[in-house]
Amino acid sequence: MKQNPQTRLIHAPRKAPQSISTIQPPLYRASTIIFNSTDALFNRHWTDDYDYSYGTHGTPTTFTLGDNIAQLEGGVYHLLTPSGLSAINLVNSCFLSQGDEVWVADNIYGPNMEHLRNLEKRYGITVKVYNPIQVETFQPTDKAKLIWLEAAGSVTLEFPDLNSLIKKAQAHHILTALDNTWGAGLAFNAFDLGEEHLSVDITVHALTKYPSGGGDILMGSVVTRDKELHNKLFRTHAIQGISVSGDDVAQIQRSLASMQLRYEHQSKNALTLLTWLKNQSEFIQVLHPADPDNASYSYWKEICQQGHSAGLVSVIFDSKHQLQDIRNFCDSLKLFKLGFSWGGPVSLVMLYNLKDMRVLEHSHLKDGLLVRFCIGLEHPEDLIQDIQHALEQVKKVKNE
Ligand SMILES: Cc1ncc(COP(=O)(O)O)c(C=O)c1O
Repeated sequence: MKQNPQTRLIHAPRKAPQSISTIQPPLYRASTIIFNSTDALFNRHWTDDYDYSYGTHGTPTTFTLGDNIAQLEGGVYHLLTPSGLSAINLVNSCFLSQGDEVWVADNIYGPNMEHLRNLEKRYGITVKVYNPIQVETFQPTDKAKLIWLEAAGSVTLEFPDLNSLIKKAQAHHILTALDNTWGAGLAFNAFDLGEEHLSVDITVHALTKYPSGGGDILMGSVVTRDKELHNKLFRTHAIQGISVSGDDVAQIQRSLASMQLRYEHQSKNALTLLTWLKNQSEFIQVLHPADPDNASYSYWKEICQQGHSAGLVSVIFDSKHQLQDIRNFCDSLKLFKLGFSWGGPVSLVMLYNLKDMRVLEHSHLKDGLLVRFCIGLEHPEDLIQDIQHALEQVKKVKNE
């Protein structure tokens, strides 16, 4: 049939041959997915993975990345979300209902706590806080539905007593959800933990960090091994219209090839910095779970048997330093950029006042303002020099 040029431009005749093979998988961008026939339309099973029916339910591009992340983490089923925080919110909104109790570690990623506090105010959910290194502070009632775990916590970096917390949660039939961003599926297998082979029910992962690796893309994932849990999450995901951009997925997929190398390199450099930071008199405490002096060291050792520990290290300044000194310190850094997040090529620094961040008393943490370093891919000697220079600047200003 003869067609007008405008129509021919839209219905281009060339199709990629099935046999073509490339290093990266082809990129599918889709809102509409075309059905080959009304039979295919009426027989679609949009709740099944790999039954493509509409962009929000997934494309080969999103399923490829999801499969990779699920396998990396030791899980089976997966969903992608537009950010790590939206992955957390998906779990909260899927499993929590009015009257339920949810348990969160005191060192949990702050916006998760904020989200839960919001649910508490608006929907009558009770939020309870536990100390991740004191399992006895986790005292679930029969209303408890979900416990959030994070290993290690984002700012003070305590590694939780995972085995004891999971066992207690399982004994009370409470769902366990782990924010797996720090371990990234590389430091430990959350679905097969330690000697006892315990498993969490759900992992969420801010793919924004190590999987993206560029400091430029936001994405999250939710992984399970349990089909029933996945189906519930899948339905919530679908009715909330959560979806991710194929282009962003393809960028993360491309970065996965170098993820383990970057993770191990950043872990190693963080350990180099840890050793140096511990010798600086301006810091009264250096926080890193793989440090034998750390209060949570034995829990880290029990679970992270290959010795991995991500690229984060925090310091607490001597309390003689006021906020202005810490601000001078951060402003004097040249290589470390002031910004949230981690896992990218550029080292980052952020300052925190612990007093505003914790509900419980923590005897293992000294008083003072905290600075967190996120180690990028720069040479550790240059990073040390940068911190040394900033410390000298603080001293100089104080002596003026
Ligand atoms: C431990 C942890 N979980 C989740 C998130 C949220 O990820 P996103 O920034 O993609 O929303 C972050 C972000 O900083 C994080 O540090």
